[in-house]
Amino acid sequence: MEIGPPLLEGSKKIMLMGSGELGKEMAIEAQRMGIEVIAVDRYDMAPAMHVAHRRYVINMLDGNAIKSLVRREGPDAIIAEIEAIDTGALTELEEEGFRVVPNARAVKVCMNRIELRRLAAERLQLPTTRYFFVEDVDDVRRVCKDLGFPCLLKPEMSSSGHGHVLVNNYDDAERGFKEALAHARGGGKRVVAEEYVKIGRELTVLTYRYSLNNNVVTATIPPIEHQRPEGVYHYIESWHPAMVSNGVVEKAREYAVRIVNELGGLGIYGVEILITKDGRVLFSEASPRPHDTGLVTLVSTNISEFQVHVRSALGLPTPEVRLVTPAAAHVILAETETWAPRITGLEEALKIPGVQVRLFGKPFTYRYRRMGIVLATGNTVQEAREKARSAASLIKVR
Ligand SMILES: Nc1ncnc2c1ncn2[C@@H]1O[C@H](COP(=O)(O)OP(=O)(O)OP(=O)(O)O)[C@@H](O)[C@H]1O
Ligand SMILES: [Mg+2]
Repeated sequence: MEIGPPLLEGSKKIMLMGSGELGKEMAIEAQRMGIEVIAVDRYDMAPAMHVAHRRYVINMLDGNAIKSLVRREGPDAIIAEIEAIDTGALTELEEEGFRVVPNARAVKVCMNRIELRRLAAERLQLPTTRYFFVEDVDDVRRVCKDLGFPCLLKPEMSSSGHGHVLVNNYDDAERGFKEALAHARGGGKRVVAEEYVKIGRELTVLTYRYSLNNNVVTATIPPIEHQRPEGVYHYIESWHPAMVSNGVVEKAREYAVRIVNELGGLGIYGVEILITKDGRVLFSEASPRPHDTGLVTLVSTNISEFQVHVRSALGLPTPEVRLVTPAAAHVILAETETWAPRITGLEEALKIPGVQVRLFGKPFTYRYRRMGIVLATGNTVQEAREKARSAASLIKVR
């Protein structure tokens, strides 16, 4: 890939394809650097739109809508902030000379579990859970027997745990397969069946590629650890640094660098690593963008994952990201479905020293929608986690 010079000479413009909470923090970082921000999403007043120069509401699965908007606005970088984007349009735009961040292929591969597994497990030989790709119920029965019960089905394309189904026994296969397909994005017909492992710990290794004197350099941020109650897929809690041995950190970083270099482009990736109770370190998946568990870097590091992504997108370097304090983050979820939700408990939460709150400002809620995040620093990770947890429990969105 031709990298070229940094893009900051003259006024520059980024377009966020997806304007959620991650986009909002990227928009803020771009604004601070004098960059024009165009925020795009499928609904009006999405979080990043509050802090953008201009906003557009389009169906991002409609390739023509994306292409006409990009050609009209002519951004210097198109940042894919969500998965549900027409990747064919991104590929075409890239061929026309637009910079897609990190690149169109990475966006396409990372949203597809089958393509990503092929790349990570088959091409790069990274350790993963045992898996099979399945296309019908007979396949499911056969491979689940091999994987052992329960085994986990995931649609080829979906995010945030949608369509993850545990198959408990031989007779359960048909129900499981139907349910997984019912949640597949874009009417996908294939499913990944995975060995269901007992998870000890989960890490995110933020790994970024930036341009330095026309070369691409890959760097990692010390791993973040995160946790959600079993079967709950809304992101709950993360902390920084991860409380794992140096050996595990080394392995996790090695796997992250290998997959990210294979995916290429410029920008940050969130590489998800599972550590099983029996001590295996496994590559799970990668997001070609800042990661929700990486929101903790708004307080834990000298430079946040959002600033890293914006700098990398524009061809600028970030030679080192350092941990400055133990910190933790805890998500704030909506309780009910409503418009213009009321938020209570903020005053009590902010009485806790070291606590900050980011409310995303989403105009409507549904049950368990992510509405904000509590960030907390402490002398230890344990202290930060306790503060974040208690502050989050005080804040209600309904
Ligand atoms: N094979 C497995 N065995 C046990 N638990 C698993 C397995 N695969 C995934 N999980 C659990 O489910 C969570 C979500 O899985 P995964 O990251 O593949 O799905 P996702 O739809 O991309 O979710 P998200 O968008 O929240 O990352 C993991 O973080 C892990 O806690
Ligand atoms: Mg995941």
